[in-house]
Amino acid sequence: MEENINALKSVLDKEYEDFESAVEKVQTLSELENIENRFIGKKSLVSEYLKNMGTLSGEFRPVAGKTINETRKKISERIFLIREEISLIEFDKKLRNEKSDLTLPGRKIKKGSKNIISQIIEEIEMFFIGLGYEIAEGPEIETDYYNFEALNHPPDHPARSLHDTFFIDENILLRTHTSPVQIRYMEKHKPPVYVIAPGKTYRKDYDVTHTPMFTQIEGLAVDKDINFGNFKWTLETFVHAIFGKDRKIRFRPHYFPFTEPSAEVDVSCNMCKGSGCRICSYSGWLEILGAGMVDPNLYKFVGYDAEEVNGFAFGVGIERIAMLKYGINDLRMFFDNDLRFLNQF
Ligand code: DAH
Repeated sequence: MEENINALKSVLDKEYEDFESAVEKVQTLSELENIENRFIGKKSLVSEYLKNMGTLSGEFRPVAGKTINETRKKISERIFLIREEISLIEFDKKLRNEKSDLTLPGRKIKKGSKNIISQIIEEIEMFFIGLGYEIAEGPEIETDYYNFEALNHPPDHPARSLHDTFFIDENILLRTHTSPVQIRYMEKHKPPVYVIAPGKTYRKDYDVTHTPMFTQIEGLAVDKDINFGNFKWTLETFVHAIFGKDRKIRFRPHYFPFTEPSAEVDVSCNMCKGSGCRICSYSGWLEILGAGMVDPNLYKFVGYDAEEVNGFAFGVGIERIAMLKYGINDLRMFFDNDLRFLNQF
């Protein structure tokens, strides 16, 4: 640096002019930052001069220092003001861009819905809860004892072969019905018992009306003085609640090892109103559940006194109810996960 105040001033004036013309076009904060670096940053001319003050003579140093600092201050004040201005403009721009258009239609939230099988289970549960029943559950992997033996199927009983059982080993199997929950529940609870038990069941079977996994609801009522009239009323009221009051029901004699007497319950066909059609195989009736008065033999397995109590039980196939209620003709549709099918419910 030449020790001449006029020469120094004219260099600094030139620097300030350069600054002004640079800053004139500045639009953004980051551009401003570059300019700040260039004119008063560490490597700027002004900073270089200030760093070299120590090399100047004692007389010149304060004069030079004052001049350089004035320029520095001028530049930095100007930058301060411009920064304020740009910040305001940028903030305003941001607000304008983020402005919400309240007239736009809202975004639809796509909601899933309950599977039709779950819906029917809930509907049936609600009906029986209304009558004072409780809900119970049992394991899907069962022992031979609960699935067969305690339900009055001794080891060589022919009814066992009706079940197309998936065996895991000689004693362990996938339950073929929800009836084992009857035994498990009675083992743990003293009468009176009013309980329903929904759940998955398994059989080796696959066609339009059978799938290897299907769903049942078991019902069991055991109390003093339960008679066939209570049994019939309960199932009739249940069928009317699910299918509508205009449907007739009938009890057809049947055989189950764990009930005596046993019945299959049919509901009148809605398609032909009973006159006979393809859906009901021209009988006018559709089978919907198996049921009966609990065989007193079962009470021995759970420690109830067969002289003291009696009861009734029933087992309903949920998919079958859904098929009849909604006119679905292929059971496999329940398990295909085709949204066009599922969305209808
Ligand atoms: N467990 C039988 C089945 O899967 C249905 C059944 C019939 C259940 C009669 C019952 C009953 O509780 O009493 O075919």
